[in-house]
Amino acid sequence: MEARAPRGTTDILPEEARLWQKIEATVREVMRAYGYGEIRTPVFEYTELFLRGVGETTDIVEKQMYTFEDQGGRSLTLRPEGTAPVVRAFVQHRLDGRALPQKLWYAQPMFRYERPQAGRGRQFHQFGAEAIGTLDPACDVEMIAIPLEVYRRLGIQRFEVLVNSIGCEVCRPAYRAELKAWLAGRLDQLCPTCRSRYERNPLRVLDCKEERCRQATEGAPAPLDHLCDECSRHLEHVTVLLRALGIEYRMDPRLVRGLDYYTKTVFEIVTDVLGAQGTLAAGGRYDGLTAAVGGKRFPAVGFAGGMERAVLALRAAGLDEAAHLDAPDVFLVCLGKEARIEGVKIAHRLRREDIASALDYSDEFDQARSMRAQMKAAGRLGARLALILGDDELARGVASIKRLSDGEQWEVSLDGVIPAVKEQLGGGGGPF
Ligand code: HAM
Repeated sequence: MEARAPRGTTDILPEEARLWQKIEATVREVMRAYGYGEIRTPVFEYTELFLRGVGETTDIVEKQMYTFEDQGGRSLTLRPEGTAPVVRAFVQHRLDGRALPQKLWYAQPMFRYERPQAGRGRQFHQFGAEAIGTLDPACDVEMIAIPLEVYRRLGIQRFEVLVNSIGCEVCRPAYRAELKAWLAGRLDQLCPTCRSRYERNPLRVLDCKEERCRQATEGAPAPLDHLCDECSRHLEHVTVLLRALGIEYRMDPRLVRGLDYYTKTVFEIVTDVLGAQGTLAAGGRYDGLTAAVGGKRFPAVGFAGGMERAVLALRAAGLDEAAHLDAPDVFLVCLGKEARIEGVKIAHRLRREDIASALDYSDEFDQARSMRAQMKAAGRLGARLALILGDDELARGVASIKRLSDGEQWEVSLDGVIPAVKEQLGGGGGPF
């Protein structure tokens, strides 16, 4: 049987990796502009972290975690998301002793056992940021502004920002009770998943995508109408700042998010170009999470965006032209054994000078392919120059440079090869 990558995982081949590099570079620039420092956490954590952090009644913990026991009998889980690990690191390394808020960003692979489809994988990648140690609504707004700035720089334009507030430990219990009472008489109209959510996580019923649940919950009490004064004020300030920045948003009273740690602000950036998996990025405030993982209480807010979904959005917008490989600047055509040795040496020197160089490889050390075959290979790779070395020319101390754009060819002395190539390339890169 032919070996295949596990279901829900993908190989990123070089052409596509170029697109990833572009997105990653943009994320890095934007994070720097916003004053976030990079954090890299382990791929696996103790399972307990996610049980306490993400929440035992969430889809992630109930059915999506890659959990295993190591040889020492400890239960470990491949991280399904980045927030709980970052908060764990904040507590463990006493980052509260540094300037607050701690502003941290990451771009890492995540793992969830989900039904794979376009834009939804079992190993996927998120870029995200967390600001821990502040209740300032300016930080809530940063978490929306950062991904928007990443998309703006990349040229992704079609999206909508959805915002809601789901209250806090003060106002949510009463709201939850009211919602449960309202839902109690309508349970038979809900899908089986929502019926089981009713006891454990009734808010989630509000954002079920099933049509029957949508209809059954029409007119259900919304968290927005049950916020305490502090939560209302916070939301008010968030929206004032969004408007001040000219960020268009829509209040979505049904937006509740699938992770348990959220308090107050929640948001999603959605697009209609990705089909069913239309959420490009999402996040919110989580003022109780540091305490839930054993630290002191620090208000915090963050977001994460899907890398695969950014790639798909770039493709959908026709902005994936970066997805071709870097062509070599120089292709060394070596005709003969001595020429092959000289070619390897010259390529080595060119590469040290950062001039991308390719050689024609041959399984027979002393047998070069024909000039025609090698020139064809140079053309296929999209090389800009061919450097032609023959044993006879070597004996004369010269090589030929051929400019592939117009076919012009001339001889240079072997000593002068590097400067001649550089001159043609205009300083080692860039177009002619
Ligand atoms: P999340 O909504 O679970 O939130 O994921 C955030 C984003 O990651 C999604 O909007 C989507 O773009 C991407 N994503 C999630 N699951 C998959 C998947 N299976 N395949 C491909 N992409 C996926 C969180 O993870 C929170 N930690 C966000 C956050 C940070 N909240 C506060 N700070």
